[in-house]
Amino acid sequence: MPSRREVVRRVAVAVAVTTGLGAGALAWSSTLLGEYSVMDMGAGVAGGHDDHAGPGASAGGAGEVSVTSLSVDPDRPADVRVELVARQETVQVPGGRTVEGYTVNGTSPGPELRARQGDLVEVVFVNESVADGATLHWHGIDVPNAADGVAGITQDAVPVGGRHVYRFEATDAGTYWYHSHQVSHDQVLRGLLGAIIIDPAEPADVAADVDVTALLHVYGGQHTLNGRVEDEHVDAEPGEVVRVRVINTDQGTAAVWSAAPYRVVAIDGHDVTQPTDVDGQRLLIPAGGRADVAVPAPEGGAVRLHVGGARSILIGDPDTTEPPAARQPSETLDLLGYGTPAPLDFDPANPDRSYDYVIGRRFGLIDGRPGNFWTINGRMFPDVPMFQVTEGDTVVMRLRNDSGEVHPMHLHGHHIVVLSRDGVPASGSPWIVDSLDVRPGETYDIAFLADNPGIWSDHCHTLPHAVDGLIAHVMYDGVTTPFTINGTAGNHPE
Ligand code: C2O
Ligand code: CU
Repeated sequence: MPSRREVVRRVAVAVAVTTGLGAGALAWSSTLLGEYSVMDMGAGVAGGHDDHAGPGASAGGAGEVSVTSLSVDPDRPADVRVELVARQETVQVPGGRTVEGYTVNGTSPGPELRARQGDLVEVVFVNESVADGATLHWHGIDVPNAADGVAGITQDAVPVGGRHVYRFEATDAGTYWYHSHQVSHDQVLRGLLGAIIIDPAEPADVAADVDVTALLHVYGGQHTLNGRVEDEHVDAEPGEVVRVRVINTDQGTAAVWSAAPYRVVAIDGHDVTQPTDVDGQRLLIPAGGRADVAVPAPEGGAVRLHVGGARSILIGDPDTTEPPAARQPSETLDLLGYGTPAPLDFDPANPDRSYDYVIGRRFGLIDGRPGNFWTINGRMFPDVPMFQVTEGDTVVMRLRNDSGEVHPMHLHGHHIVVLSRDGVPASGSPWIVDSLDVRPGETYDIAFLADNPGIWSDHCHTLPHAVDGLIAHVMYDGVTTPFTINGTAGNHPE
C-alpha cells in the first residue's frame, strides 16, 4: 500500500479545463485514482461547520482504533447462526425466464433470515464462485462497523473459496435486507441479496394476525415478488390484519397502493406512531427502503394490494373472484405529516455538527472514463467532503438536490430522523429512515446521533449513481481502516 502522502498526491491529480460553452458553465475535471484509502478522501476540503467549542477534531494520533476492532464481544455465543453461500450462476425466475446472476444458497433472493430483537446473529458467508469477490452488507441494521460488509472500508472482498464471519446484535426490530457491497451496482442488480426480519422482543403494539414479506426485485426486466413473476395470495379471515413487509431492492422508487384503506405501520424498520388509514393515496418507497403495510381482510372477498407497479398481493378469501386491478393514485402519502408526534431519543435542536450534502452533476473523467458525474458540494469523487464526527455528537445534515434526478440517500450504521422538507417542519410521527428519496429541487434537513463509531458510507442507492460518484462517508475521529480501494485486494465497493 502506498504511503498516505503518495495517495493524497495521486488523488489530487485533477485538471479543470473550462469548455468553450460559455461562462465556464461546464467544467471538465480529470482524476486518476490508483489505489486509495477512504481516509484520504476529502483531503483539503473544508468540512462543514464544527460547532464544538474546542479546535476542530482530527483523525489520527494516539488512540487510533481500526474498523476491524469495532465488533461485538467475540466471546458472546450466537443465538442465530446461518451459513450463506454465494454463487455466480444462472438464476431460476419462477414464472419467467432465467437470467445470469448471483444466488445465495442456490436462489435469488437468498433465504429470509429471521431473528428476535436482542439476538446475537452470526452469519458465515462463503463465496463459492463469485469471480469479482463478494461481501454481505446488512442494509438498515445498525451493526458494529466491522460487520458492515463494505469492501475496501470494513473488510476485503471475499475471494472465490474464501469465507467471512459477520456478527452483530439484532438491536432494532423491523424489516431489513442484506446484499453484497462489492461491485454492488452489478451484484445487487443481478440478485446477490435477501431479506432479514427482526421480530420484536415483546409482541408488537400493532397486532398482525398474518405476517408476510414482499421483496421486490427486477431480474432482466422481469418484475418479481419474492423472486417469482407471479402475484401472491394471502389467506386471511374477515377482519384479520395482514402485515406486508415491502422491501424495495431495486434501483428506483416503488409504489404501493390499494382500492381499500391500509395503514403504514413501519418505515425502514421503525414503527410509525399511531398510523391512520390511508385512502386514495399511494405510498412511495425509495430504492433500498422498506415499508410495513397493514391491510385488514375484508368481510367476504379479497382486497388487492399493489406492490411496485407490476405485482400485487390478494388478501382475504382464496376462493373469491379476484378484485380488479386498481389504478395507481396520483396523490402520494406525505410521510412528513403522517401519524402522531412522539419524543425522540436525542435532541436535534442544538447540533454539535452541521453539514451540507448538496448533490449536483457535471462532465468529467474518472480514471480515464468520461461521464456526466454526480458532484457533492460542487466536488467530484473522490475529492468530496468527509463528514467528520465525534462519538456522541448530534449531527444535522442539509441534503439538497440540484441535480435534476431523484436520489435515494442511504446512510450506513445509523438511522436518521427527518426534521423538515423545503423548510416545512415534520409534524407527524418521527419519520425515521435509512433510505430517503430526495427529489429534484428538494431540501431535507435530517439529524442523527453519532452513536456507532466507524467509517460509514453515505451514498445514493440507485447504485449506478453511486458508481458514478454519488458517495461520501461519515468518519468518526480516531477510527482508521487498513483496507484500500482499487488496489491488489480488488476492492470495488460500488
Ligand atoms: Cu444497501 Cu451502501 O447500501
Ligand atoms: Cu442517485
